[in-house]
Amino acid sequence: MTLLPKDRPVPVPVSPSFLWGAATSPHQVEGNNTASDLWALENAPGSPLPDRSGDACDSYHRWREDLDLVCDLGLNAYRFGIEWARVEPVPGHLSRAALAHYRRMIEGCLERGLTPVVTLHHFTSPAWFRHGGGWTGPDGIQRFTDYVRAVRPILDGVPWVCTINEPNMLAMVAARLRHDAPDLVAGALPPPDQGLADALVAAHHAARAELADLDGTASGWTVANQTFQALPGAEAVTEEWAWSRENQFLDAARADDFIGVQAYTRVVIGPDGPVPTDPAARRTQTGWEFYPEALEYAVRHTAGRIPVPILVTENGIATADDGERREYTQRALAGLGRAVADGVDVRGYLHWSLLDNYEWGSWAHTFGLVAVDRQTFRRTVKPSAHWYSDVARSSRLPD
Ligand code: NOJ
Repeated sequence: MTLLPKDRPVPVPVSPSFLWGAATSPHQVEGNNTASDLWALENAPGSPLPDRSGDACDSYHRWREDLDLVCDLGLNAYRFGIEWARVEPVPGHLSRAALAHYRRMIEGCLERGLTPVVTLHHFTSPAWFRHGGGWTGPDGIQRFTDYVRAVRPILDGVPWVCTINEPNMLAMVAARLRHDAPDLVAGALPPPDQGLADALVAAHHAARAELADLDGTASGWTVANQTFQALPGAEAVTEEWAWSRENQFLDAARADDFIGVQAYTRVVIGPDGPVPTDPAARRTQTGWEFYPEALEYAVRHTAGRIPVPILVTENGIATADDGERREYTQRALAGLGRAVADGVDVRGYLHWSLLDNYEWGSWAHTFGLVAVDRQTFRRTVKPSAHWYSDVARSSRLPD
């Protein structure tokens, strides 16, 4: 197992342009994403998903309040997504209202002094796209490129665009759904569907080409960094795991303007593959090992592999114990500080998530800095958010 480098003096100052923010995705917060493939799955008779997204956090209507929350916390960035199923609910027919909505959100960020970090695809697609064969269908990449071309005009003034969120997770989940693997914990994920992985890489490059002439816009994608750690003797097996499930997606981003790092926990690999987490280990609501040092590993691993600036586009914890959220975030940020002190080029940190939101089939996993009442949608800022706010205002990564 790789050892962490020795601690450095902390707290570590960051530049005034460092992004301190919080993140969401459209399907998880907006509500009533009715033209999407996931909505169809959630609402199908006998759906395997325990909970439906429904009204979610009603952020499609309450986005101003959400932006104000980010602002009031003294953060300077907000990551959110554009929902393809809203922009193009029917193939080839664009919703001007949806495009205008997202443009208003972008302007709402800029007016408040928030840097918008905009994701173009965050797991969900229009239902018609899936029916037509999705990414690997005959015109899958072209369809996505057409969508990117349609949203390009509203991205004026957006400095950071993420094309596709966690393509590696998308490709692994597709393989899992095909093989009906029993659970979704990181270690149990099968190798990705390679055809899908290749199509996502091609779609990403096509999307970046569409965005190339946007002045002042950096584009990249975000990868689920799984922090594969080898037990002694398992280095080669670990390399294989890491290649198929993560590294090929990092390598595809070698010429990108930036890479989005998303880290939550780790997967320890022995000679026979992932080693089950010690039953006595501390776990989060999602069942993942409590391992805040994953973020430091992830940024060091990424920086060691590809020469592009890093934006931490997600990091956080599902817990009902808000003190634990603070502890996790503090340790994660301290690790980030060690990496930054060693020269890793990190441009910002976007906590997952701003709100307690729909965690892909479940309302029971609460990642938010802000609680949301499921009946009234009333937002309540948690103490961890105030703590994070103080950190952001100090412009230092804490010890
Ligand atoms: C990564 C995904 O991008 C996000 O949608 C999800 O909620 C978090 N991880 C937590 O699982």
